[in-house]
Amino acid sequence: MTRLKSFTPPLRAAVIGASGSIGGAFVGHLQAQPSVTQVYAFSRSPLAGGNKVIAGPLDYDDETSIIAAAESTRAGGPLDLVIVASGLLHEGPDLQPEKSYRMLAGEPLARAFQVNTIGPALVARHFLPLLARDRKAVFAALSARVGSIGDNRLGGWYGYRAAKAALNMMIRCLAIEVARNRKQTLCVGLHPGTVDSALSEPFQGGVADDKLFAPERSAGHLLDVLDALTPADSGKVFAWDGTEIPS
Ligand SMILES: NC(=O)c1ccc[n+]([C@@H]2O[C@H](COP(=O)([O-])OP(=O)(O)OC[C@H]3O[C@@H](n4cnc5c(N)ncnc54)[C@H](OP(=O)(O)O)[C@@H]3O)[C@@H](O)[C@H]2O)c1
Repeated sequence: MTRLKSFTPPLRAAVIGASGSIGGAFVGHLQAQPSVTQVYAFSRSPLAGGNKVIAGPLDYDDETSIIAAAESTRAGGPLDLVIVASGLLHEGPDLQPEKSYRMLAGEPLARAFQVNTIGPALVARHFLPLLARDRKAVFAALSARVGSIGDNRLGGWYGYRAAKAALNMMIRCLAIEVARNRKQTLCVGLHPGTVDSALSEPFQGGVADDKLFAPERSAGHLLDVLDALTPADSGKVFAWDGTEIPS
């Protein structure tokens, strides 16, 4: 299926968190597009490159790796698309989604913000200057519907929700600043749906089979959403079906 028709070929894209389920699916879709000539796949776990893909390391615990990743794309020319597909919901017994305020603890909260908010913000810092200025260009970060303050009726998952809400605010600030001198650049958040991955695996119990997306399906929908967006949509968060998620 031909995608990304609203972008100007040849396209160069970077995916951060390419070792993840959704990140890997983005890389696969981008590779398959004839209009895409180069895909940079950055990840904490090592990945193999090949067939348009250049793989490289990027770990949010080491800002120099973010700077080096950005620099490694420079020689090829401007980027058209930067997708941040990293994220963290749980990490061992000490970092699990909190069911009650009694579970709140400093280190796990800081970790949730480090991976879900600060890392993507630093990616924006170092990659935004590399986006094309003379045509549609997009910086997109995977957020989550549960990061919507207005939509929060269940509570719980304090650290993840709060870190994604903070990511959404980063995206809004980036969009406002970038619009001043890059009229064709969009900064948006994306909600992928409930997707079969290591991140969602412990929480898939109550999810009906037809509501649990394969990563390839979700990433395909999200690329189509990005394709349909215009600069007027910058700063917002969109779900896999193109609907806007309230702040
Ligand atoms: N799956 C869902 O149902 C769902 C729903 C809503 C939103 N989301 C969001 O979608 C995004 C992708 O999730 P996923 O389901 O594909 O999860 P996943 O398969 O667990 O992938 C997570 C990715 O984040 C990377 N990452 C974690 N810590 C990192 C760090 N310190 N530095 C750099 N990279 C780091 C992982 O890298 P390594 O594996 O190499 O360590 C991996 O590439 C996340 O932002 C998530 O919050 C997912």
